[in-house]
Amino acid sequence: MPFHKAEAPADAVPIFFVSAETWPQVRADLPAAPAAFAAACDFEPTPGRLLILPSAEGGLAGVLFGIERKDAKARDPFLPGRLATSLPSGVYRFANQPHDVTLATLAFMLSSYRFTRYKKKDDAQAPELCPPEGVDIERIMRIASAVEFGRDLINTPANDLGPDALETAALKLATRFVAKASVTRGEKLLQMNYPLIHAVGRASDKAPRLVDFVWGPKDAPKVTLVGKGVCFDTGGLDIKPESAMLLMKKDMGGAATALALAQMLMDANASVRLRVIVPIVENAIAGNAMRPGDIYPSRKGLTVEIGNTDAEGRLILADALALADEDAPDLLLDFATLTGAARVALGPDLPPFYTMDEALAAEIARHGMQANDPVWRLPLWDPYDKLIDGKVGNLCNISAGSFAGSITAALFLRRFVEKAKTWAHFDIYAWNPTAKSARPEGAEVQAARLLFDLIEARYGCKAKVNEPNDNRKIVRRVGFLDDDSDEGSAFDDLMP
Ligand code: BES
Ligand code: MN
Ligand code: ZN
Repeated sequence: MPFHKAEAPADAVPIFFVSAETWPQVRADLPAAPAAFAAACDFEPTPGRLLILPSAEGGLAGVLFGIERKDAKARDPFLPGRLATSLPSGVYRFANQPHDVTLATLAFMLSSYRFTRYKKKDDAQAPELCPPEGVDIERIMRIASAVEFGRDLINTPANDLGPDALETAALKLATRFVAKASVTRGEKLLQMNYPLIHAVGRASDKAPRLVDFVWGPKDAPKVTLVGKGVCFDTGGLDIKPESAMLLMKKDMGGAATALALAQMLMDANASVRLRVIVPIVENAIAGNAMRPGDIYPSRKGLTVEIGNTDAEGRLILADALALADEDAPDLLLDFATLTGAARVALGPDLPPFYTMDEALAAEIARHGMQANDPVWRLPLWDPYDKLIDGKVGNLCNISAGSFAGSITAALFLRRFVEKAKTWAHFDIYAWNPTAKSARPEGAEVQAARLLFDLIEARYGCKAKVNEPNDNRKIVRRVGFLDDDSDEGSAFDDLMP
């Protein structure tokens, strides 16, 4: 749906961001009645505190929202996201600047995400925000829309998002941006030399497959994204206990991240030749499942011993990365919900990343902080590399010993990357165990926003410039997977 245009309403309710240092001045500037009301409510400008100020007629005169002091040790630029879930319906505007107006606006949008596929929410009463001055609202909308697309994919359970449905979602995205796509399915994977993808996915009644699409001019810098697409991870014959299996619909979070980042880049018309490779399987249990002790060839030629059928992500990524590496991309990025060990090390909110490229590592860390999409570098520690040597095959999919599980998984992947000019691997969690502002409980897209910024900074984007937008309001979205319209993107409901 195209964007609507209308005059910005003069009566949009002002939101005042206040910190301990700015509150005295804001309070002094308030009309007497709301100032007295704030005092009567014992309002303190602590971060996250919200107070709605009544007008003399009983309407909404304004909103006070506490944020951190400028010099606070920790500031959450997404804190204003709480407004989207706490305010009554109506049209609002920022009366002054939060710490980061772009991230505050993005937070407003990311906060209002709801997974509505199975339980409809009445969103008619959602608050609306006039795009604040000085923000690139089109860019924010594109980012938010892609994040929501990724979240919807991750939240959708495996009975509705098996390998066939994930393939369809990837192809729908490719089609929308006129990318050239191909799919290799089932036994064809063996003919085309993807033995590991086949071995992992063959026990499911939904065939394993590899989706590969290419977009953009041939001569532009080559950026290739690879994502782990395990639609459900039972563990295989090394079956997971129930508590560990419960969340395993999210084991295609890497694929969802790659697709979300691809949507951001294509939607912004990034000046790159983008390639997206997603190996898609279900790690299921059946008589024909791969077994512990089996040895398989890989696309690259290295033989791989199966030490544990639950270390399946690195197997499918090995073949996908080998393929990605063949055309020597300038930048190769992979995303995977690869190890529980990454969570033990850094927790759910801070995915580790790995790269040999010092300059890229610094860029990733910087953009992560700037975009409030934090990641933390862990080392590809050479002395641990021998831990994944195989006894009978070239390498084994689990390491000898249980230490440094995220590092040894990354070292396993590294054995399949040779020609790429630079490579980074992200061991993501793809899930918010508890809700935080702009990070609702459930699916999360991690590292895509920071990498969109990085790729835009490196190679540039030629997004279409739209008309001035300061007279539109941001309202809640419609679900990507809920609606059957061709317009796959959420946030097409900017209202007058
Ligand atoms: N998908 C899991 C990793 C995972 C578990 C990510 C929980 C996020 C949350 C992966 O396939 C797996 O099972 N990894 C094993 C590897 C082990 C068998 C070497 C793990 O981390 O326990
Ligand atoms: Mn597993
Ligand atoms: Zn897995």
